[in-house]
Amino acid sequence: MEHGSAADEARSRPEGGASAAPDTPEPALMPGRTGTGRAHAKVILFGEHAVVHGQPAIAFPMRKIGLQATAEAVPGELGLTVDIYDGPLAHAPAKLGSLVTTVESTLDLLHHPLRGVHVTCTGDIPLERGLGSSAAGASSIVNALADLTGTDLDERTRYELVQTGERVAHGSPSGLDAYTVVTERPIWFQAGRVEDLRVELSAPLVVADSGRPGDTHSAVGAVGEIRRSDPEQAAAYFETIRRHTVAAREDLAQDRAGSLGEHLDAVHETLRALSVSCTELDRLVAAAREAGALGAKLTGGGRGGCIIALARDLEHAPVLARALEEAGATQTWTIRPEEFTA
Ligand code: MEV
Repeated sequence: MEHGSAADEARSRPEGGASAAPDTPEPALMPGRTGTGRAHAKVILFGEHAVVHGQPAIAFPMRKIGLQATAEAVPGELGLTVDIYDGPLAHAPAKLGSLVTTVESTLDLLHHPLRGVHVTCTGDIPLERGLGSSAAGASSIVNALADLTGTDLDERTRYELVQTGERVAHGSPSGLDAYTVVTERPIWFQAGRVEDLRVELSAPLVVADSGRPGDTHSAVGAVGEIRRSDPEQAAAYFETIRRHTVAAREDLAQDRAGSLGEHLDAVHETLRALSVSCTELDRLVAAAREAGALGAKLTGGGRGGCIIALARDLEHAPVLARALEEAGATQTWTIRPEEFTA
């Protein structure tokens, strides 16, 4: 049915109003009413992959890029508009399964019928680059639906809803992505538990996109396979990552950028051994080191996506970004120290 037809207008009712025909599902809200939501990207500093197996991780919100969602009350069925699809939610392609699940779970939680809402999500987080686009898409939608229905959802509830979608996207997500896109603070995350992190670091981070889409699902599967086929070796890799993550926590609190950089370098080598790097990421990490970075590693699921490099200071960051672009990065972002915690 076309949006806004006279018949649908007649059937619509104000929020909380009584239904005229109980056997006919009706939109709960006045057509045209709109809610909005935003969610930022995330960057994992330490612990990706190991976190899936119970080890700790450190992640920062990356506020300079994000996704915006609008949820509009409309007559008729649920609808979805994203860059790759525009149509009924029920017919969205399988790769949008996590967003579909998020919309439905959120409406359920909000006691809203599974109809009468059109969700649109756009923004500037590049897809499949390890920066949390799928979790941020889900988070922006949760926020927009909560706004549409005038509901306040706490951080934990929003996390659970995003995580429901992430399970569809990645099978067995640790929850790190889901938490980092709903929180405003750098976090220490382990086995679903979250702690705020003290960050006094005065050196900026440069994030560089290899231009190659990553594949978190297959990378997580490959690490799981190493764990099954060689549990001792896998345990040794996870222990190495854990050790660097624990030490990095102290470095972040004490502004020890040099030591932090060494941990980044070391963890990249372990992630390579776990088979989740690729030529493009290794090339960018090498270029960052050659350009004087204090350390560099891949970030996120890997096998494509982005690296992070620790610049010496604010003057060094643009030099590093240029070197990374010359080495093939399609895009770079500098995260200044004041953006870590703002
Ligand atoms: C992906 O951004 C991070 C991984 O550790 C997966 C997860 O934590 O669920 C690779």
